[in-house]
Amino acid sequence: MATASVGAPLVPRRRFLGRPIPAEGANGLFTQSWFPLCLSSQVAKGQVRGVDFLDGRVVIFRGENSRAQVLSAYCPHVGADLSVGEVLGNTIRCAFHHWQYDQRGVCVKTGIGDPPPPGACLFNFPTAEKYDLIWAFNGETPLFELPDFPYPEDELAIQVEAFEGALPVDPWVLCCNTPDMQHIKALHGVTFDQEDPDEDIEWTPYSMLYDFKGRHANGEPIEYRIGIYGTSIFYQSSIFDGRWFGFLAPFGLPRPGRATTYMIVVARKSDSDTASTEAFLQFAMQLEKKVVGEDVPIMQTIHFQPGTLTKSDKALSKFFQYLRDYPRAHPSAEFIT
Ligand code: FES
Ligand SMILES: [Fe+2]
Repeated sequence: MATASVGAPLVPRRRFLGRPIPAEGANGLFTQSWFPLCLSSQVAKGQVRGVDFLDGRVVIFRGENSRAQVLSAYCPHVGADLSVGEVLGNTIRCAFHHWQYDQRGVCVKTGIGDPPPPGACLFNFPTAEKYDLIWAFNGETPLFELPDFPYPEDELAIQVEAFEGALPVDPWVLCCNTPDMQHIKALHGVTFDQEDPDEDIEWTPYSMLYDFKGRHANGEPIEYRIGIYGTSIFYQSSIFDGRWFGFLAPFGLPRPGRATTYMIVVARKSDSDTASTEAFLQFAMQLEKKVVGEDVPIMQTIHFQPGTLTKSDKALSKFFQYLRDYPRAHPSAEFIT
């Protein structure tokens, strides 16, 4: 046994690390969550748009019935990217040999008149359009629904922003900030009126949510319900200085180790006239941008790993387990790559 001389500093020989969390793309699998792909406004009726997703390529096209659909991008004939094709009615036509695919991704016509081969189809992603974004679920069928705010959508005014570029982390790394009570206090300067709500966190296999009351960095009273849906959506229903607003930060997954970021704020139209609601949305967006801006330099440089934790990391530690247990799959793999 090694002996240390009296008074010698204790030098740890190794670091303690928790069990690793599988990275996105590890073993060819990705977490089964809803991911935002683009703004609704980026795909008008009759338009198609190509986007990188899950280390592959997808297209979003909007037919004349106004429905947006996410499909694998590569034409099963010889692989042309459908994002340079053309929308005809409710179909997308490949630019190369004019094969046409309907909104289910089934080839319904070839340019030359040969009957479409039965296997000629695209991967049809579960697609949602909500909060002015177009979303796709990584799976055959969604495991959960996109979150709702406590008020009906038609009563809400909304403001959405998409950020240029991507952060060099998986979306779930960004989600780890929500159960990270130490960072809420140390980095963001929020104070809690109560003990950490560790025992009162509502967990499901696809979400975690908790409530707290406290003060924002500048001292305004806050009453927040915050949480994570899947591995890619931050949710916040908040009363800030007496007025309610909702906030979502969904993260896209173009390829392993990259997260694209969107920010959505909503307010109740009935709480004030249109101009004041717009001004309040502007205020809420700036408030959240300031908070996110505090996280960004850290997330741009972090080498994230479950490391040495303390008792204030109880919720974070449980979230690490949620992430380890989270379902992973990649049913579109052979279509999108
Ligand atoms: S590659 Fe698309 S129709 Fe031939
Ligand atoms: Fe944060």
